[in-house]
Amino acid sequence: MRFLGSAGRIWRARAGCAVRGRLRTGLSAASLGPGGVEGRPAVRLLTGRGTGFNVLMAETDWVRWHEDYETPGSSLARRLVVVQRFLDRVLDTGEPRSLLALCAGDGRDVLPVLAARPAGRQMRAVLVEFDPSLSGRARTAAAALGLPGVEVRTADAGRPASFADAVPVDVLLACGVFGNVSDGDMRRTVAALPSFLTPGGVVIWTRGRGTGDGDLSEKVRASFAAGGFAELAFEAPADAGFRVGMARLTEPAAAPAPDRLFTFR
Ligand SMILES: C[S@@+](CC[C@H](N)C(=O)[O-])C[C@H]1O[C@@H](n2cnc3c(N)ncnc32)[C@H](O)[C@@H]1O
Repeated sequence: MRFLGSAGRIWRARAGCAVRGRLRTGLSAASLGPGGVEGRPAVRLLTGRGTGFNVLMAETDWVRWHEDYETPGSSLARRLVVVQRFLDRVLDTGEPRSLLALCAGDGRDVLPVLAARPAGRQMRAVLVEFDPSLSGRARTAAAALGLPGVEVRTADAGRPASFADAVPVDVLLACGVFGNVSDGDMRRTVAALPSFLTPGGVVIWTRGRGTGDGDLSEKVRASFAAGGFAELAFEAPADAGFRVGMARLTEPAAAPAPDRLFTFR
C-alpha cells in the first residue's frame, strides 16, 4: 500500500507507513484501472475520512490487475504467452517433476501448461498466493483441469516458511514479483533461490523495463548471473515494457535462505 497524499500535498511513501494501522478504520475504497504489467496502476484509493486525517492511500487491486490479461494484445497478455512458452520449453526436457510459483495470482501461467501434457498432470506443484480470491480461482482452475498434484496455498510467499515443505523444486516461477519489491528484496530473493531448487533447477521470472532511460530488468539479470545461474533465455520485445527471463542453477546454494525474502511495496 502506498500513502499518496496528505492535506492536499501529494507525496509518496513506502508501504507500511506508521499511520497505516490507525487509518484502517473509516477507510473507503474506489478502484482505478487499468492494470499494468508488473503492478501499480490497478489501484484502489483509500481515503481516511472520519479518522482525523485527510489522507489518500493506494493499494494495488490484484484481482483487477488480472483483468488486463483478457485484453487481446495487451502487454500482460503477450507476457503470458512468453511465460507459458518458457515453461513449455522446460517441461519439454521431460526432467521436471516439481514446481513452485511465488505470488502465483490465479495460476493462469502454470495450470493450462501442466494440463496440456501427461507428465505435467502428474507434477507436484505448489502455488503460493496471498489474495484469497485469486488463490481460490487458482484452486478452482486446478480442479477443473484435473490436476491432483497442484496445491494452492493462500499464504505469504515472502516467507520461505510458507513453502519449506515443498522445496527443493525443479522449476520455480517468480512472475510479477520483482517489479513490486525493493532492489534489496529482489537481490535477497534471487540470492536465496538456489536453496529452493534441485541441482540444475530452472527459474522463470519477469520484470517490467520501467519508464526511465535504463532497463530495470538488467539488475535482475545481473543478480541471477551473480547468484550461480546461467541464462537460458531472455525476451525483451522492443515494443512492450515486459521482460521475461529463464535461468538454470549451475552452482549449489551458498547460504541458507533468510526468514523473509521480500515484502510488496
Ligand atoms: C503482479 S501479480 C502477478 C501474479 C502472477 N504471478 C502473474 O504473473 O500473473 C502479483 C501477485 O502477488 C500477490 N502477492 C502480493 N504479495 C504477496 C505475498 N507476500 N505472498 C504471496 N502473494 C503475494 C498479489 O496478490 C498478486 O496476485
